[in-house]
Amino acid sequence: MSSVQDARTITSSVKGEGSIRSAPSTRPFVHVLADSSDKLSGICSVLAQRFAVAGERLDAEAKLSQVPFAIVIRAELREVDNIAAIKKRSARLAKATKRIFLVEHTSHVCISQAYALGATLVLPGPLDRIKLLAALADPAEPAVDSGNGSAPQDNAAETAATAIASMFTAVTMGEPLDVDGTKDAGRKITERITEHGLSEWLTTVRRHHEGTYQHCLLVTGVAVDFGLSLGVGPADLERLYSAAMFHDIGKARIPLAILDKPGGLDGAERAVIETHPVAGYDFLKDHEKISPEILDAVRHHHEYLDGSGYPDALAGGSINDIVRILTISDIFAALIEHRHYKPTMPRADAYNILCGMSGKLEKALVTSFREVALTR
Ligand SMILES: [Fe+2]
Ligand SMILES: [Fe+2]
Repeated sequence: MSSVQDARTITSSVKGEGSIRSAPSTRPFVHVLADSSDKLSGICSVLAQRFAVAGERLDAEAKLSQVPFAIVIRAELREVDNIAAIKKRSARLAKATKRIFLVEHTSHVCISQAYALGATLVLPGPLDRIKLLAALADPAEPAVDSGNGSAPQDNAAETAATAIASMFTAVTMGEPLDVDGTKDAGRKITERITEHGLSEWLTTVRRHHEGTYQHCLLVTGVAVDFGLSLGVGPADLERLYSAAMFHDIGKARIPLAILDKPGGLDGAERAVIETHPVAGYDFLKDHEKISPEILDAVRHHHEYLDGSGYPDALAGGSINDIVRILTISDIFAALIEHRHYKPTMPRADAYNILCGMSGKLEKALVTSFREVALTR
């Protein structure tokens, strides 16, 4: 292990060594893991301007005396040795409030793998200094959970993100789907919202997750809270959170370049996106543990009462209650998503947009949704 060195010497000294550490400092402490010295020195030199940094190659083992508030990992997640090396450090990872994975190969599988390894945030693509520093801003913010040092798997947001990640991996790789695990994660979200309320859930999810995973977590939370506010029974609540967890599973078949594209989509891209309800339905339809209600919700969550939705242009009475609740929750969650390239829309503005969709959504339900959207 290297001796303690000034952060500015990181780039030169990291070559040929397994670990590196900046000078003791009162600055917040970040731990960096990478699968090569070049990657390690690249990230360390970005972070050393603001943080006390310790870098460690995945094939080495350094003993840290300090617990970092954040761990940043850059490694090829298609390599089994890297996955094993990260898993070996899972106890240490669990103690960090932020676990940021910089994933070079932008694919559902690599991003899913990062979440499965405990990521609280995944930044795909080439190293983006500004995004990384923004993600590490506010080191004092509370941990994802109650701050009791619990393992990531004990946390509703992490469990659910991991369940969604495994679901996407299953679709991409043609592997079996863990239906019970996914429903169980939905149940944990329900318990969390029952105990702490919707606002706390929205804040946690938006702070720690991005893209489609964030969306699925938000939709499930909003749908659950909508169900609770409407007083639906336990069986319907289970249908609702299960439908919400699975509703966008077909997006696993959509390229991330389209799915996470900043700004608007052109006609061709929109047409690709609009294949996801049928893709999800086709993937789930022969699964023995997927009920007809869930299948219906997956296929029809983009239908509108006036027949202007897709894929089947259903209208009025052919759209059932669970789907109507899910559609409102889905639109609202999409509007209030946190995206790094645009400001987050206030909940009141998102609710006003729903109110403007007259004819498409059930008016009485939109009225009932007011309390969920604005005050819960
Ligand atoms: Fe969708
Ligand atoms: Fe959605």
